[in-house]
Amino acid sequence: MSKKPVRVAVTGAAGQIGYSLLFRIASGEVFGPETPVELNLLELPVAIKGAEGTAMELEDCGFPTLSKINIFDNADAAFEGINWGLLVGSKPRGPGMERNDLIRDNGPIFVSQGKALNRAASDVRVVVVGNPCNTNALIALHNCREVPATRFSAMTMLDENRAKAMIAKKAGLNVGEVRNLAIWGNHSSTMYPDFEHATAGQKSVIDAVGGRAWLENDFMVGVQKRGAAIIAARGKSSAASAASACIDHVKHFMEKTPSGKWFSAAVPSDGNSYNVPAGLMFSFPIRSHGDGKYEIVQGVNLSEYARKKIADTTKELLEEREVVKELLVR
Ligand code: NAD
Ligand code: LMR
Repeated sequence: MSKKPVRVAVTGAAGQIGYSLLFRIASGEVFGPETPVELNLLELPVAIKGAEGTAMELEDCGFPTLSKINIFDNADAAFEGINWGLLVGSKPRGPGMERNDLIRDNGPIFVSQGKALNRAASDVRVVVVGNPCNTNALIALHNCREVPATRFSAMTMLDENRAKAMIAKKAGLNVGEVRNLAIWGNHSSTMYPDFEHATAGQKSVIDAVGGRAWLENDFMVGVQKRGAAIIAARGKSSAASAASACIDHVKHFMEKTPSGKWFSAAVPSDGNSYNVPAGLMFSFPIRSHGDGKYEIVQGVNLSEYARKKIADTTKELLEEREVVKELLVR
């Protein structure tokens, strides 16, 4: 393999998501079988031993694409020259909590990591997974003036995958037949999974599942509260599915989106799309150009129902931004 390695930092490398995510990146699944990957594992000092154990297992997999593993407890060193920063490391919520209950504990992590990215990385794309991920991404990009804001995103792909899986099950289809299911807004219980523009097989989703009643009720709440349902069942938050969604997220941004298709990710609002205030990290339907650039899909014809849902999730993101305003310096 003569290509230059892609350098990827994963924070929270000894955590649950890290344990699934790192192996899939190392295997070549994301950057391809011809691209060497150098992994920078960032952890808190207290969890460095765990990261060392994960690194041993990564070596033991014998992935030809894994060129190097470095372990750090310092963000400046971990982010030096990285191409991708996957910011996972942060506290997960427990039963009975909303994700934004984590804001005061987790927000400051993204101040220091934003500053470290600013010092250490220029050709980087940053994906925030740690919750509340939209607002944590907002904090990170505000503390990282040297990197364009459009290189930051937060993950709502897990919600899209969940929504597609629920529809496929209801309609008796393969999940690959459900398309263009955009998540709008916050990765929280106000998110709006847009069933009105999605298709299932050759039909609209509404026709495929026999009308709107199930979609407006069980489906809507099912997607919005799926994270909480997993915590209630497992006693811990989603991990393998979150890692899988993170892989999908990175791949979607790297590959040109096929004509007529879109995927979901939270990106900085440009202020000209769907009345979402500029600068909020808001999940939209996105199309990637495959060259590092992307666009927010324009011209989606939103119903009154959709507009109300989008207004609710916008309001919540504005409230979260108000709570963290002291952490935003850009
Ligand atoms: P975990 O507790 O298993 O692991 C988190 C790891 O992060 C720990 O090893 C911890 O030591 C480390 N960490 C904490 N602060 C750090 C810092 N400042 N720098 C580096 N490492 C740090 O948690 P998990 O299950 O892996 O979840 C991680 C985060 O991802 C949580 O906030 C969770 O809510 C979130 N999450 C988001 C989504 C999503 O769809 N956006 C899905 C699942 C989980
Ligand atoms: C999820 O959606 O599974 C994650 O955001 C974890 C959580 O707290 O729900």
